[in-house]
Amino acid sequence: MSQDRMHYDDDPIIRSDRGVGHEFSDVVQGRLSRRDLLRSSLVAGLAAGLAGALPTVAKAARTLGGSPTGLDFIPLKPKKGTGIQVAENYSSHVVVRWGDPMRPGRSMESDPTTMTPEDQANAFGYNCDFVGFFPLPVGSENSDHGLLGVNNEYINPELMFPVDMLSGLSAEHVNVCMEAMGFSVVEIKREGGSWSHVIDSRFNKRVTGTTPLLITGPARGDARMKTSKHPTGTTCTGTMHNCAAGKTPWGTVLSGEENFQGMFGQANALKDAKDQRSAKRYGLGMEKSEYEFERHLDRLDCSKEPNEAYHFGWVVEIDPYDPDWQPRKRTALGRFRHEAATSHVTKKGRVVMYSGDDARFEYVFKFVCSKPFNAKNREANRELLDDGILYVARFNEDGTGDWLPLVFGQGPLTAANRFNSQADVVIDVRIAADLRGATKMDRPEDIEVNPVNEKVYVVCTNNTDRGKDGKAGPDKANPRASNSHGHIIELTENGNDHAATKFKWELFLVCGDPSDPATYYAGFDKSMVSPISCPDNICFDARGNLWIATDGQARAISARDGFFAVPVEGPERGRLVQFMETVEGSEVCGPEFTPDGRTAFLAIQHPGEGSTFDKPSTRWPDGVGVPRPSVIAIEANDRGPIGSAGNEGRTSRRAMMKGGTGT
Ligand code: FEO
Ligand code: CA
Ligand code: CA
Repeated sequence: MSQDRMHYDDDPIIRSDRGVGHEFSDVVQGRLSRRDLLRSSLVAGLAAGLAGALPTVAKAARTLGGSPTGLDFIPLKPKKGTGIQVAENYSSHVVVRWGDPMRPGRSMESDPTTMTPEDQANAFGYNCDFVGFFPLPVGSENSDHGLLGVNNEYINPELMFPVDMLSGLSAEHVNVCMEAMGFSVVEIKREGGSWSHVIDSRFNKRVTGTTPLLITGPARGDARMKTSKHPTGTTCTGTMHNCAAGKTPWGTVLSGEENFQGMFGQANALKDAKDQRSAKRYGLGMEKSEYEFERHLDRLDCSKEPNEAYHFGWVVEIDPYDPDWQPRKRTALGRFRHEAATSHVTKKGRVVMYSGDDARFEYVFKFVCSKPFNAKNREANRELLDDGILYVARFNEDGTGDWLPLVFGQGPLTAANRFNSQADVVIDVRIAADLRGATKMDRPEDIEVNPVNEKVYVVCTNNTDRGKDGKAGPDKANPRASNSHGHIIELTENGNDHAATKFKWELFLVCGDPSDPATYYAGFDKSMVSPISCPDNICFDARGNLWIATDGQARAISARDGFFAVPVEGPERGRLVQFMETVEGSEVCGPEFTPDGRTAFLAIQHPGEGSTFDKPSTRWPDGVGVPRPSVIAIEANDRGPIGSAGNEGRTSRRAMMKGGTGT
């Protein structure tokens, strides 16, 4: 039992649900719709007579070639081991690994200490997070040939270099690390039953911590964007800590710069009061930085380059299909620890982006473009993201919500609060959101629109600080103190119009061990679900089922992270089952399906984290040398859609039976 778990059991709000009080159940029940209450009773009835219920579903399965949800696979019960485990009748293989060459003649041998910055700039980056599949040719739905666009979030120097090198990493090794972050585009093909990358593709491209980028939107050219290397404030050097991302309707990527604050040190030396306020709110290192790379790179030292940190915390647009198109930092979407930026086109053709600020007690944002999307002319959408309105969410206690505009001159966003322009609003958008009275959330990670029911799913991964002395306590949208396990909110925009300024919301999942009364699986019988904790990245299959990748289960429920599926509609709403378990020390990221739904790509990030280069807890995927963050592909052995039984439907009934046991 982990330390966090003990805190969770001791929580007064949770205890109250066991008879002392009623706050928690009120919170959960208060956010159930009438439809859910009705359906929940129906499911409870079905579950009570499981033997009677199954034939009905199995009959449907025979008629349709699978259950109505299409989730017929046998839920995974992970065995003790160190490798990837997938559901029965499925297989996985590695597509591309850290250090794999993206140009002919380059390679990383098993000892990365010999790698030069130039080698890394021409090789697949570290700690893969977002994965996007872009079919080739552009505009096609090809599912065996395309580009992978992959974020390379951060580096683990303790796994990349021997322990005796760590205390004084050389400038060369620091520069390798700067080239290991950012973004990788690799052409991939499925041949002979497996995927591999094409080394000499003209599309292969790295965007790294040193790539020249353009700055667009309200902060472009602002005084605070000017540095000694970029005196006009219209360009900048590099992108880093690229966590999750999203694909635009015109086929580019919006990559979120997340924990940039850990790269900057000596913020105590900042003289201007506005700079000091910003540095504190964004968590820059007041003395040395987390990584201490400023020992070799002056631009990461705020006493030497006070404005450099303003170049990070943005959404970066990258075009995988056009290697020559210079990536842009889209400042209209605001500066914070972007988990991602995911988009949706409204019925009226407006493009809406959702993005979470992944830190404890931070916010959920959306950006509504002013101009309409042009589906016929890709080039016409190039500057769409520079003009629109940024909003932050307030979740009201009655299950309604408001999108509060973050516009200079409106409400508190005036000179009285040191906001003198929209540039100030987007640069210090956390402070603007504080002033607006937005709801402080439990670390918002991925936020995505379900393409089938058009609801928005907001993933809050955890927040063990909620309810601590001096911190915000539970509220209806973040219902647990010391929240170790996270939850997922289902948000419905008014009129199903994603440009609306009001919404309704309810809790969909309150994660954790299902035997814990404080968990909630959309009302489904919890004896029939898998345990899940710390949801992070999500995606949807063609039927609108929600697929969830986790980050942090080892700490929260003593299980490795994994990949799970759960229906969001119908009698199986909330029947969450595990599909895959990952490698020791890693989290699962970037879930992505090919257009035919027959391959799932997953990023295996930081395998072996918690151990060292000298004594790694795993040598995955090669079995020798260092662990390497990699993208894997998972497919059914019969090449059926991901989620199917994987064995020509013959095990549907068995899958349903096994689904009742969880793990
Ligand atoms: Fe990089 Fe919020 O996970
Ligand atoms: Ca994440
Ligand atoms: Ca994460």
